[in-house]
Amino acid sequence: MSRSRKTPEQLRSHRWLGVQDLRAFGHRSRMAQIGLEREEYAGKPIIAVVNTWSDIMHCHTHFRQRAEEVKRGVWQAGGVPLEMPAMALAEVMQKPTTMMYRNFLAMETEELLRSYPVDGCVLMGGCDKTTPALLMGAASMNLPAIFVPAGPMLSAHWRGQTLGSGSDVWKYWAELRAGNITQRDWDEIETSISRSPGTCMTMGTAATMMSVAEALGMTLPGASSIPAPDSNHPKMAAASGRRIVDMVWEDLRPRDVMTAAAFDNAATTLMAMGGSTNAIIHILAMAGRAGVPFGLDHFNALSARTPLLANVRPSGQKYLMEDFYYAGGLRALLAQLADLLTLEAVTVNGRTLGENITGAQVFDADVIRPRSQPLKAEGGLVVLRGNLAPDGAVLKTSAMDPRFNRHTGRALVFDDYNDMSARIDRDDLDCDADTVLVLRNAGPLGGPGMPEWGMLPIPQKLLKQGVRDMVRISDARMSGTSYGTCVLHVAPESAAGGPLALVRTGDAITLDVAARTLTLDVSAAELQARRAAWQAPAPRFARGYGMLLAQQMQQADKGCDFRFLEGTAPTADPEIH
Ligand code: FES
Repeated sequence: MSRSRKTPEQLRSHRWLGVQDLRAFGHRSRMAQIGLEREEYAGKPIIAVVNTWSDIMHCHTHFRQRAEEVKRGVWQAGGVPLEMPAMALAEVMQKPTTMMYRNFLAMETEELLRSYPVDGCVLMGGCDKTTPALLMGAASMNLPAIFVPAGPMLSAHWRGQTLGSGSDVWKYWAELRAGNITQRDWDEIETSISRSPGTCMTMGTAATMMSVAEALGMTLPGASSIPAPDSNHPKMAAASGRRIVDMVWEDLRPRDVMTAAAFDNAATTLMAMGGSTNAIIHILAMAGRAGVPFGLDHFNALSARTPLLANVRPSGQKYLMEDFYYAGGLRALLAQLADLLTLEAVTVNGRTLGENITGAQVFDADVIRPRSQPLKAEGGLVVLRGNLAPDGAVLKTSAMDPRFNRHTGRALVFDDYNDMSARIDRDDLDCDADTVLVLRNAGPLGGPGMPEWGMLPIPQKLLKQGVRDMVRISDARMSGTSYGTCVLHVAPESAAGGPLALVRTGDAITLDVAARTLTLDVSAAELQARRAAWQAPAPRFARGYGMLLAQQMQQADKGCDFRFLEGTAPTADPEIH
């Protein structure tokens, strides 16, 4: 695609660095303080390398070096890279949940880009919430941007078995509680399961969102599947650095790429990968930033027409992201889906998605299944509605026991996480394999931040009987590495007075996947009486960021973005005085 090119005087940074006045003197004298001669930057695009590296960011340990490779590419192409650290959302480590800070990083990204003399940016993320946060901020600022995904870590091994991030943690934790493995086994797994730099290597939220970013068109083709330690990864980083400079001259911006067609491509990819339920929330939020209407129920339409092709755990049975890469990676998967994608969608390299996947081959048809042999005929995620979830709920059908496709069970209600952990392993817990476990006060406001508590543990007494899946319902999220019949994201959430707040132990609940419904079998009159007696939880925060979140965070069906950050209303560049 041919675009007219900017002149140096049209660069955004020209206002800071290219004019002759008192303030420009100050800016240039500080560039000299950085150690740059005027000839090194004058008239060249300034590229922010927004890096979510930090010492505690376990999945981005290679990002210090990768930033150097990005910068190398920027210099090679005639740009000037300036690395700008941004908040590292280290999944697992950050409490109560990284989701509490996704919008914080999005805001930080947007305002970093706005307040400094930046012409374009390279976004470095990968660990779960970092990807949507960076893309949300970039979409709002709408300066040329390219995403460099951290890439998955290498597959892990323990006593001849392959270990998958997260998924095998949940699996072996259940086996430990059931008495089937020893504490020593468990300790060995702890030191074996995270093997290299990079993100979780199951199809968790990180791998899902990096793939979504590529399907959206925001990475170079093939970038999202490259394992972090692979030598192709630094090459991709440098190539991204080279490309962003041209994107600035071409004025190719995120909202030129993140179009309605691109979001459909991304959501279709999510379904074909059996990706994380978290992606539904993030896609809704990113679409909101790009000004693209995208309702929750649209996922059902895309799921119904998209086969599950990626045989990667936890939706798949066997493989991990390293295998997916060797099998051809995302380009090969997208090539299988070509008739379901809008191939004309433009991507950051200036070419269309169709051009980018031309010639992509599958090298292992068990990892990336052909259309004639999908893992499932339909996509892995569905949206449910009903009187228990008037604004929707989400279920990952690809990772559940099919015996629960239509199921009625008696509710066992936990008021919050502490209540659940105090009671779940009691021998006298009143439950059996058909019981429906309900957790409330775990949503966007109640968690707060909607923690990944939605894969409620199976009660110990049932684990010992061999039970490994049950219907579980909550207003929480769950890790993309989790599995089981976990109905998530119930909206409105219980802390906001949603019907989940009204369920009582002993109520009958019916899940019907084919009908896409979730029903509390209690009369409307009885629910009204319960609502009249319901009391909202006391405010949790009297000040600070938590208070902002409590006032501004929207429900899951709206993507959990802050109200004041949504949309594309123009925000002026700063005046320079
Ligand atoms: Fe970083 Fe899973 S903990 S991607």
